[in-house]
This record gives sequence, C-alpha cells and structure tokens, in this order.
Amino acid sequence: MLSMIHCLCYIYMMTMANYLTAGALAITDTNFSIDQSALLALKAHITSDPLNILTANWSSASNSDICNWVGVTCGGRHHRVTTLNLSYMGLARVIPPHLGNLSFLVELGLENNSFHGPLPQELSRLRRLKEINFQNNNFMGTIPSWFGSFPKLQTFKLLGNGFSDFIPAAIFNLSALEIIDLSSNQLSGSIPREIGNLTMVKGIHLDDNKFEELPNEIGSLGQLEELFVQNNALKGSAFVPALKISSLTTLALFGNNMSGSLPDNICEHLLSVRLINLGQNPFDGLVPSKLRQCKELRVVSFEYNNFRGSIPKGLGNLTYLSKIYLYHNNLEVTKRAEIVTGTIPDEIGDLPQLEILGLMINNLNGVIPPKLFNLSMIRLIGLSLKSLPANIGLNAPNLESLLVDGTNLVAGPLPNLSNASKLRQLDMGSNSFTGFLPSTLCSLKNLERLYLYSNSLTIDPSAPQVASTLSCLFNLRNLTGLSLGGNPLNTTIPVFRGNLSTSLLDVDLSFSNIRGNIPVDIANLSSLITLSILK
Ligand SMILES: *[C@@H]1O[C@H](CO)[C@@H](O)[C@H](O)[C@H]1NC(C)=O
Ligand SMILES: *[C@@H]1O[C@H](CO)[C@@H](O)[C@H](O)[C@H]1NC(C)=O
Ligand SMILES: *[C@@H]1O[C@H](CO)[C@@H](O)[C@H](O)[C@H]1NC(C)=O
Ligand SMILES: *[C@@H]1O[C@H](CO)[C@@H](O)[C@H](O)[C@H]1NC(C)=O
Ligand SMILES: *[C@@H]1O[C@H](CO)[C@@H](O)[C@H](O)[C@H]1NC(C)=O
Ligand SMILES: *[C@@H]1O[C@H](CO)[C@@H](O)[C@H](O)[C@H]1NC(C)=O
Ligand SMILES: *[C@@H]1O[C@H](CO)[C@@H](O)[C@H](O)[C@H]1NC(C)=O
Ligand SMILES: *[C@@H]1O[C@H](CO)[C@@H](O)[C@H](O)[C@H]1NC(C)=O
Ligand SMILES: *[C@@H]1O[C@H](CO)[C@@H](O)[C@H](O)[C@H]1NC(C)=O
Ligand SMILES: *[C@@H]1O[C@H](CO)[C@@H](O)[C@H](O)[C@H]1NC(C)=O
Ligand SMILES: *[C@@H]1O[C@H](CO)[C@@H](O)[C@H](O)[C@H]1NC(C)=O
Ligand SMILES: *[C@@H]1O[C@H](CO)[C@@H](O)[C@H](O)[C@H]1NC(C)=O
Repeated sequence: MLSMIHCLCYIYMMTMANYLTAGALAITDTNFSIDQSALLALKAHITSDPLNILTANWSSASNSDICNWVGVTCGGRHHRVTTLNLSYMGLARVIPPHLGNLSFLVELGLENNSFHGPLPQELSRLRRLKEINFQNNNFMGTIPSWFGSFPKLQTFKLLGNGFSDFIPAAIFNLSALEIIDLSSNQLSGSIPREIGNLTMVKGIHLDDNKFEELPNEIGSLGQLEELFVQNNALKGSAFVPALKISSLTTLALFGNNMSGSLPDNICEHLLSVRLINLGQNPFDGLVPSKLRQCKELRVVSFEYNNFRGSIPKGLGNLTYLSKIYLYHNNLEVTKRAEIVTGTIPDEIGDLPQLEILGLMINNLNGVIPPKLFNLSMIRLIGLSLKSLPANIGLNAPNLESLLVDGTNLVAGPLPNLSNASKLRQLDMGSNSFTGFLPSTLCSLKNLERLYLYSNSLTIDPSAPQVASTLSCLFNLRNLTGLSLGGNPLNTTIPVFRGNLSTSLLDVDLSFSNIRGNIPVDIANLSSLITLSILK
C-alpha cells in the first residue's frame, strides 16, 4: 500500500516538475509531435519508396528532429513544419487525412510521384498554404471544391493528373491566387465565369484539356499576363473575351476549333502582348493588317489555318518581332488552300530581331527581299517562292535552316551558299533546280540534313575531280540525312577516300542514274540505317 502511494506521488511530482520548469516548451513539444505524427502517418501510407528516401531518413525515434528530415523545412521561430516538398521521389499511395494537421504549412509540393486519390478534405484546414503543387501524379475524379478555401494561396498546380468533369466554380474563391495550372487533365465543358473572381491572377494554364468556351469574365482580369488554353476544344469565337486584357503578354490558343475571321483591330487592347499563338485552328479571312498595333510583339504564330490575303507590310514596324510563323494550313499539299498570297513585303527585311520566318506551303510569288539575307539574327527561312537571290549565303551569318518547299516553282541553278557557314538544314527538294551539284556545299561543315531530291541536278563530269562532290558530302562530319534521289546525277559512286562519316543515317540516291558498282568501303558508313539506290 505504501509503495503504491509512493508511486502515484512520484508520477504527480514528475508531472508538476515538467509543467513548472518547461511550461511553454511543453506546449510546443505537443504541437511538434502533432507535426511528427502527421508525417509518420504519411510515411505509413506510402506503399512505394523506390529510392528508399523516407524509409531511410524519416526516423520514428521520439528524439528525431523532424526539421532535419528530407523534404521538410520548419519555421525559425515556432519550429513547426512550413514546407513539405517530396517532389521526384517516386512515392505512391493515397494522402492520409493527418496531413491536415500540419497547420503551419505554407508550401506543399508532391510533384512527379505516383500519388492517387481520393484527396482528404482535411487538407482544407491548412489555412496558411501559399503553394500547392500536385503536378504529375495520378489523381483522378472531379477537382474537390474545398480547394477554394485557401485564403492565402498564390500558386495552385494540378497539371498532369487525371482530373475530369467540369471545374467546380468554388475553386475560384481564391482571392490571393496568382498562378493556376490545370493543364494536361481531362477537364471539359465551359470554364466557370467565377474565374473572373481571381483578381490577382497573373497566369492561367489550361492546355491539353477539353474546354469549349472562355467566359466573358476572363476579359476583366486586370493582372493577367499569361493565358494558355492550347490543344482544347474551344469553338467559334471563343478567343474574343481574351482580346480585352490589356495586361496580357502571352495569348496561346494553338490547337483548338476556333473559326471565322480575326477582327482587324485585334490589337486594340493587347498593348503588352509579346506572343500570339493561334496556330492549328480553322480560322479564315485575312491576316489582320493592324497587327502592327501590338507594338511589343515578339512571336506571331498563325500557321495551319486558312488565312488568305497578303502579309501585312505593317509587320515591318514591329521592332521586336523575332519569329513569324505563317506556314501551311490544315489541308494536304495537293489540295492546299492558298493561305497567304502576294509577295513578301520588303518591310519584313527591316526587322532587326528577326530569327525565324516560316512561310512554307503558301502561294507567294515574286522574289525574296534581298534584305532578308542581310539580317544578322536570321536562323530559319522557310518559303515557297518562285525565285531565290543568287548569293543567299553572303550576308546571313547565322542562317541554320533554309527550306524551300516542294512547289516545283524554283528553277535555275542552286544559290551559292558557301558563306552560310552555320547552315545545318538545307531542304530544297521537289523543285526545278538545274545545273551542277555545287561542290561548294562541301564547305558547309555543319550540314546535318541535305535534301535536294527531285530536281534536275547533275554532277559535272568535266570537273577536275570527277564525282568528288559525292565523296566530300559523304565525309561531312555531322551529316545524318542525304537525299539526292530523283536527279539525273549520271555518275558512279566513288571509291571513298579519307574517314567516312559516322553520322550518316539515311542516304537516298535512288532514280538518279547511278552507274557502275557500289564500292565495298560503303560499309564504313558505320551508322547507316537506309541506303536507297533504286534504278
Ligand atoms: C536525412 O536527410 C537530411 C538531409 O538530406 C540529412 O541532413 C539527415 O542527416 C538525414 N537523416 C538521417 C537519419 O538519415
Ligand atoms: C490529426 O489528424 C487525424 C486525422 O485527421 C486525427 O485523427 C488526429 O487525431 C489528429 N491529431 C493528432 C495529434 O494527430
Ligand atoms: C520542390 O523541390 C523542387 C526541386 O526538387 C522544386 O523545383 C520545387 O519548386 C519545390 N516545390 C515547392 C512547392 O517548394
Ligand atoms: C515529371 O513527370 C512528367 C510527366 O510524367 C515527365 O514528363 C517528366 O519527365 C518528369 N520529370 C522528371 C524530372 O522526372
Ligand atoms: C471562400 O473564401 C473565404 C475567405 O477565404 C472563406 O471564408 C470561405 O469559406 C470560402 N468559401 C468556400 C466555399 O470555400
Ligand atoms: C465571386 O465574386 C462574387 C462577387 O464578389 C461573389 O458573390 C461570389 O460568391 C464569388 N464566387 C466565388 C466562387 O468566389
Ligand atoms: C469544329 O467545329 C465545327 C463547327 O464549326 C464542327 O462541325 C466540328 O465537328 C468541330 N470539330 C471538332 C474536332 O470538334
Ligand atoms: C512603319 O515603317 C515604315 C517603313 O517601313 C515607315 O515609313 C512608317 O512611318 C512606319 N510607321 C509607323 C507607324 O511607325
Ligand atoms: C547588305 O549589307 C551589305 C553590307 O553591309 C550592303 O552593302 C548591302 O547593300 C546590303 N543589302 C541590302 C539589300 O540591304
Ligand atoms: C561562292 O561564293 C564564294 C564566297 O563568296 C566564292 O569564293 C566562290 O567563288 C563562289 N562560288 C561560285 C561557284 O560562284
Ligand atoms: C557538329 O556537331 C557537334 C555536336 O552537335 C558540334 O559541336 C559541332 O560544332 C558541329 N560541327 C562540326 C563541323 O563538327
Ligand atoms: C553520263 O555521263 C557519261 C560519262 O561522263 C556521258 O558520256 C553521258 O553522255 C552522260 N549522259 C547524260 C544523259 O548526261
């Protein structure tokens, strides 16, 4: 009996001592253990930890300081978990409700794991959250509407999951939100007009879903800079509300089903826009002539549409313009509808920053403005055109790609390109080039693809080194594709000298009147995959 009283007394005294000596600390300790048990609950729910990260590092020993655990960051003052970042660890399984007890959590990052649903509603108790990143996991079903209950949330990323159905309007109850990224899910229907409540939002990313409409309210987002709704099912004039956003720098609506023509005053409010991508839509009508009013424009992508009319001269006034994509529309080449006609305005040659001019598969005529080849920044020129200037290579020190599509339009000798020393890709197949295959091509040491098939080129039999043009092409270090088929080359394949290219993958010399035997040392083209020498 005595010993039992003694014992109780002892416990009482110990508890009192704890309380008296360590008061506030004891409370912190309790909260600390709330965080610890939340993390241990998460660890217990993990079924796959292929890199053995949590298994090895998150120790359940009571004296283990969770603030040293991998992926965990604590606040300086209160010693509570503020960041939990378990990105790229290959972890799998569901998220336990206990995570909702990490009440000081500011950032929750689970990107690139294999977590799947359901998401526990207890997470909505994390009132301090500023960032949620669940991108590239396996969450599915409807996006829970309690995602709207984070008053401080600034960044919200669910991209790369399997969320489906409509977006619940309630998630737009996020008054501090700056970035929302729901790309690459299965979301569909209309985007709720409550999106207009995101008054602080700067970036909206909805690529690769099945949305059909943009609500008018999107036009009232006065801070919005980036709007991405590419590869969706936007219909008709869905783009119109976006044209009202004067803060917009990026309007990316590539790959939808929007049709009709663009208003000529498309730029009236888009005074900050740097990139407009409306490629791969069935738009028609004229290319808006007042595009020059988008004074900040860097990139204009109107490829794969049904635009017609001419290239507006006013593009030449856009000092910062660096990329122009106006090539092709969604019809086959044989049935091509002429998207852009007329000549290339000389003014395009005044664009000091121009790097890419993609005008392939169009119905342009006239000549290329020679000034284009005087542009110090130009890297890619792609055209369908009747004639090329003779000395293209002289003044285009940065030209990497020259594509003149197979229109059978271009006749005459190949231009002298020997000074375009950075050229990597030359594709002028299916035209009507005549004359000799110039041996100067061999000076283009960076050539990777040389496609001159289906022209009328021959190899000069009277040249000092007969057939050496072929020989030196086979020696180009970086050449992977060589296609000269369908030309009346009328030559033999030379016995090769020197080290043959180890990079050549595909060689096409078919239907080009090749005479004689195939030399055995062609076997030294060690990477070769296809060799076509049909007669
Ligand atoms: C857990 O990882 C952290 C950070 O990588 C490291 O500092 C700590 O020593 C590790 N703890 C254990 C028990 O492995
Ligand atoms: C934490 O959360 C879980 C589930 O939401 C709950 O059961 C538990 O009692 C909470 N508190 C502690 C201290 O773990
Ligand atoms: C998590 O860490 C990765 C790098 O490992 C970083 O890119 C990411 O921004 C972090 N996420 C959060 C929410 O802190
Ligand atoms: C993250 O996941 C995406 C989608 O599965 C994948 O494409 C990407 O390569 C991953 N990133 C890393 C760094 O593993
Ligand atoms: C909307 O946000 C407010 C303020 O953060 C919050 O009080 C309210 O509960 C939220 N409503 C919903 C439906 O999440
Ligand atoms: C959007 O804002 C309106 C007006 O302030 C408010 O009545 C409505 O509840 C808000 N909706 C959401 C989902 O935040
Ligand atoms: C695109 O819209 C047209 C009507 O404008 C419709 O007939 C067609 O089915 C739509 N295509 C797709 C892929 O949704
Ligand atoms: C546009 O550029 C042309 C020359 O290409 C020039 O004559 C004209 O004044 C410019 N217009 C504006 C509005 O800058
Ligand atoms: C191209 O530049 C050269 C040298 O700067 C100059 O002589 C020539 O007139 C320019 N050509 C055109 C068409 O502007
Ligand atoms: C091609 O241009 C280079 C450099 O200007 C010159 O040296 C060469 O003679 C020209 N070749 C032909 C065939 O005109
Ligand atoms: C060939 O390719 C390599 C690797 O891409 C590059 O470093 C080199 O500059 C290229 N040109 C030549 C002539 O080797
Ligand atoms: C092909 O080349 C041979 C030998 O150089 C020549 O005799 C013959 O006339 C050429 N044939 C044609 C069609 O050019």
